[in-house]
Amino acid sequence: MSATLPPGTSESRPVLPPDLRARKGQAPLVVLTAYTTPMARLVDAHCDVALVGDSLGMVVHGLPSTLGVTMEMMILHGRAVTRGLSRAMAVIDMPFGSYEESPQQAFRNASRILMETGAAAVKLEGGVHMAETIAFLGQRGIPVMAHIGLTPQAVNTLGGYKVVGRDAEAERVMADARAVEAAGAFSVVLEKVPVGLAARITQGIAIPTIGIGAGVHCDGQVLVLDDMLGLFTEFRPKFVKRYADLGQSAGEAIAAYADDVRHRRFPGAEHGFADILPGKKP
Ligand code: KIV
Repeated sequence: MSATLPPGTSESRPVLPPDLRARKGQAPLVVLTAYTTPMARLVDAHCDVALVGDSLGMVVHGLPSTLGVTMEMMILHGRAVTRGLSRAMAVIDMPFGSYEESPQQAFRNASRILMETGAAAVKLEGGVHMAETIAFLGQRGIPVMAHIGLTPQAVNTLGGYKVVGRDAEAERVMADARAVEAAGAFSVVLEKVPVGLAARITQGIAIPTIGIGAGVHCDGQVLVLDDMLGLFTEFRPKFVKRYADLGQSAGEAIAAYADDVRHRRFPGAEHGFADILPGKKP
């Protein structure tokens, strides 16, 4: 499938945070996670943003949650992803424990992420209580994508990966959206927020909303790449649409290889190299 460049973007220069912000209310923004160079290349051809999400802890490293993800992991995968991008913007998640303590701690770690990976922006979780940090980073040259609603790094305080923003909680999520907008975030991820509330937030703030499990009215959508490709199968959230079943295809390919090796069907003559006998030309 050929690349589908969104309106207002060009192949000759990468998307930057102000471009994304300026596309509020226009054609939906397309975001996918990526963790490696080959996947980043595929994402780059079709998406506006390649998000190096801390979901990599679960889908790549087999951790039970995102809480064990480190700065070193984010930087390593961030570097791999930026190497594969020529147009899409790289946004890198700040891992748990790297920004919550103070704006200064957040600046130290966010600047390291940008310097060592070449990414354009960071993402961090939190609304009203992170507004001061978002403003501090923005004033010092670090664009921030905020993340509110279900914030997986707070799974232990939230009590699970539940929908956030039903009933009385809705106004708190709305206040979070307004706070990150006022603090200068250039966009905000809404995770597992009811569809109507996500629509109200999208209409009520001037920065793009990127939904995951937040319905069709957001300014853009994001999915975890390994979920939508069927590579991560341990659990499947309701909001994931599977566009491929690569996990099953890979399993079948590995089984066929193992069978071929055991029955000496691989390697074939075409995979080998001819001997050169002494005194004979090749
Ligand atoms: O870590 C991640 O992949 C994310 C997306 C789910 C938004 O934060």
